[in-house]
Amino acid sequence: MACDIIIIGGEGDLAFRKLYPALFSLDCEGLLAESIKIIAFARGKYDADAFYAAVRLGIENSDYTAKIQTADWERFTERLIQFVGDATSAASFVKMQGLLKNEERVIYLSTPPSIFSPICLALDEAGLVEPSTRIVIEKPLGESQASFEQIDEHVQAVFEEHQIYRIDHYLGKETVQNLLALRFANVLFEPLWNRNYIDHVQITVAEQVGVGGRWSFYDSAGALRDMVQNHMLQLLCLVTMEPPAKNTPDFVRDEKLKILRCLRPIERNDVNHVTVRGQYAKGQIQQGDAPGYLEEADAKGNASSTETFVAIKAEIENSRWNGVPFYLRTGKRMRERYSEIMIQFKPVVHRFFDSNSGRLTDNQLIIRLQPNEGIEMKLVHKVPGLTENTRLKSVGLDLSFDKAFGDHRSPSAYERLILDVIRSDQTLFMRSDELLAAWEWIDRIIDGWEQTGKQIAQYAAGSWGPSESVDLLARDRRRWFDYDDNR
Ligand code: BG6
Repeated sequence: MACDIIIIGGEGDLAFRKLYPALFSLDCEGLLAESIKIIAFARGKYDADAFYAAVRLGIENSDYTAKIQTADWERFTERLIQFVGDATSAASFVKMQGLLKNEERVIYLSTPPSIFSPICLALDEAGLVEPSTRIVIEKPLGESQASFEQIDEHVQAVFEEHQIYRIDHYLGKETVQNLLALRFANVLFEPLWNRNYIDHVQITVAEQVGVGGRWSFYDSAGALRDMVQNHMLQLLCLVTMEPPAKNTPDFVRDEKLKILRCLRPIERNDVNHVTVRGQYAKGQIQQGDAPGYLEEADAKGNASSTETFVAIKAEIENSRWNGVPFYLRTGKRMRERYSEIMIQFKPVVHRFFDSNSGRLTDNQLIIRLQPNEGIEMKLVHKVPGLTENTRLKSVGLDLSFDKAFGDHRSPSAYERLILDVIRSDQTLFMRSDELLAAWEWIDRIIDGWEQTGKQIAQYAAGSWGPSESVDLLARDRRRWFDYDDNR
């Protein structure tokens, strides 16, 4: 599909770190039609040499791009045009129009949402918005349901829902899409995928990085808005939704929406019982000293009770999942970087082997999202040998994607998502009603925190979060499935 791509905010961090490397890879894979032009629309902070050098550096630093070959670089820089203008002025867009080569266009707003409205109006005034024009927008899409509605209204004043692509980059990750294949292309799991066989589910997204240079943005958001409202709830939806009847955008999004609407609201009187907020204090990560959140250079001595860690016990009130807890946790400056979904199955109904056979872990399915992507199924086996009592042990059946698909390159989330926008496929993008429902659930938690005013728990950088997070599961006689359990 041939369309031009206009990146507004083309000199921003996201563009250099994610968008140009993704576009470069797509180009190297032969997935961009020859006529496609990429316009880097920005204020002109960089002169041409510095701009292309920064693009190149972004590509070199990306985990997903191979070493740059001269011919590939030359072809890419032919397409990539730096354009200096003011994105809130129609006149700038009129001037830019001469650079476009195709009827269709994708406009990527890599800017703060506060200027979405004037940009959309300027695009419209310049005559750039036609029925085939697609617009891509990214989080933070609001900080509450009300502010999301406001942002969305501005975009919807100019674009229709079928033209709006709201990115959640987690949906572009290979392993996240594989969740759908695992659930819906295998006969094994679906019969067991419910409250009769599943005891509980844990979803962990742990990061080693702190908030670094994003301190002031992050401080107004916190982990709940930054990670749970979007990425973690999307993961939860994919794990728990009913099988969509068709693999088409609205069939999939309808099922996700039903889950978001069935989340048990966390009320004020319950909030401190089923959620934990934490903030990292100084500590050690891999033998190196790590500063606390308030000591990060960009904190500039400010006090803050913003959470950098959150754990939640969520429940879904429908007939498939009633009574099954979903424990979500995410945090910055944790001991390791890893994201995993762990499905804990119930014990066998009748114990055939006697209690001397060993302490057994019931079956677990572990979906490793990053790093070392893959899945592991913990099954109980007999330990070989001639002992009188059969000895049993839980051993993982391990499928590492690297080993299984060694000759395949795993594309970055942005490659997948940008290609889907080019192909006009909205399946992996969030619909407005999904975001509204997600915000409604999150707003209630924030309100509960504000009203109850419980002090934020501290955790040392390099740990697994505050001890309250362990207590959250201990109260249910469970424990977090930890990184070390699986190595
Ligand atoms: C972003 C958050 O959406 O996701 C960041 O704003 C976070 O705070 C990042 O670090 C994590 O993404 P990934 O792909 O590295 O897991």
